[in-house]
Amino acid sequence: MRWFEKSVFYEVYMKSFCDGNADGFGDFIGLKERLPYLRELGVTGLWLTPFYPSMQVDNGYDVSDYMNVDPIYGTMADFRDFMTAAKQNGMAVIIDIVLNHTAINHSWFKAHPEYYVWKEAPNNWESFFGGSAFTYSAEQNAYYYHSFAKEQVDLNWTKPAVMQEAKQILQFWLEEGVAGFRFDVINNLTVDTTFPDNPFDELGEMIHKFDRNQPGVQAVIAELASFCRACKPDVFLVGEISSDDLNEIASYSRNDLLDVTFNFNFGSIEKLAVTKIFDELVRMEEVIPERLPTLFFGSHDMGRLMSRLANENRSVAKLLAFLMLTARGIPFIYNGEEVGMRNQVFGAIHELRDIQGMQAYHLALQDGASEQSALEVANQKTRDVGRGPMLFADGKSFSEGKPWILGRNETDLDKLEMFRYYKRLLEFRGQAGFQTEAYKKLVLEEDAIQYVRGRYLFVANFGETDFSIKKSGKLAFGEAMQSENYFIVSPFSGVVIELEA
Ligand code: NOJ
Repeated sequence: MRWFEKSVFYEVYMKSFCDGNADGFGDFIGLKERLPYLRELGVTGLWLTPFYPSMQVDNGYDVSDYMNVDPIYGTMADFRDFMTAAKQNGMAVIIDIVLNHTAINHSWFKAHPEYYVWKEAPNNWESFFGGSAFTYSAEQNAYYYHSFAKEQVDLNWTKPAVMQEAKQILQFWLEEGVAGFRFDVINNLTVDTTFPDNPFDELGEMIHKFDRNQPGVQAVIAELASFCRACKPDVFLVGEISSDDLNEIASYSRNDLLDVTFNFNFGSIEKLAVTKIFDELVRMEEVIPERLPTLFFGSHDMGRLMSRLANENRSVAKLLAFLMLTARGIPFIYNGEEVGMRNQVFGAIHELRDIQGMQAYHLALQDGASEQSALEVANQKTRDVGRGPMLFADGKSFSEGKPWILGRNETDLDKLEMFRYYKRLLEFRGQAGFQTEAYKKLVLEEDAIQYVRGRYLFVANFGETDFSIKKSGKLAFGEAMQSENYFIVSPFSGVVIELEA
């Protein structure tokens, strides 16, 4: 068994987690101060979003210097202090690494234009944030390729020098003591360099046939992965695969590739649908039975679990946490979820920062929308809804300064109750020892997802009525009425029954 198979990870959205110097941005000093909080919660791994010097066009996913810390987060010394303290608190730290693109102001862009992808004239490829994926450079008299913003220039992974640079970066951070990496959009690294136009689906959406998942990409990832494993045999490699095809996503989770990959069909569904969640749990077992899936219902790229899925109903939010922390897989809690944070709401366009939200706003205005309705579109499209300043259960604010992101977050006062629920769940998970157990049973009956792992039966009742189940055993977690051999599980409630041997 590998160490991370039992871990519970917690995504720290660096800018919004904890500000130690009152400049309105989260930083390493603040994060270090909050390590006891994270230990109390019971997580054992942290995923830090990019903290490298950046143009901040895409909040750090546009890296200007891979082997340094952006001054808004502190210094390398602050990073090292934090790492020492993280170790003392029993926390493994994995960091986000963006190898698909660099910021346009990275020194490579001028010094090594050959590291990037160039073309004499654009084809029809669209960038993820809208518009053409090619932008003209007068200096090169050619178009550079960017699968995201025009300030995020895609690297050319057919160049051996790019691989060498990447290895240096990975080695640098492994030597700094990180336990692994979360590889950003890692299946985008290579493109078809004959540049055929992409086809469209029946709704007019581009099918990314030639700019993702290209034949050579797994060889590139295999080389990166084996390099990391040679530096640090127990390294944990997590992949963000930009795809909604589970077979494709799963194909990157392999001994010679990544340890785990994020499945967005599970985590980022638009609204709660118990059959969809259940089907995805089953499919993850079918497609990669011998490997662990990841389990999450939130991240910095989507609306918060409490608003998007739970419709602000705390019982539903708790039940989703129950499922995420007891089903088979490696859970990733998104910061703020454990206190029931809701979506951030923006009353004016200047309050938000996300390029995706701003782009949607300007496009709506161009299409003739009023400012008010363009703002509504921006509120729907912006990923900033999930990036608001952290609300801590102890009431202490995220920052003594003016937060980098504005807007309102009307999370109710019962943050502590939600925090305690997560904490109890994590304690139970730690003590009961089922984390590595396979499912002996995984079924959906009425609206209750049930699974047996080890000696425990887990029942997650997503229905609006009581769910009764006949079993001999004793209640190990949660609340249920017991009558004779029946356990009665209330609506939106999760229980664990320790089965009789
Ligand atoms: C995925 C990241 O999670 C997202 O926030 C970012 O915009 C893109 N990759 C581009 O790096």
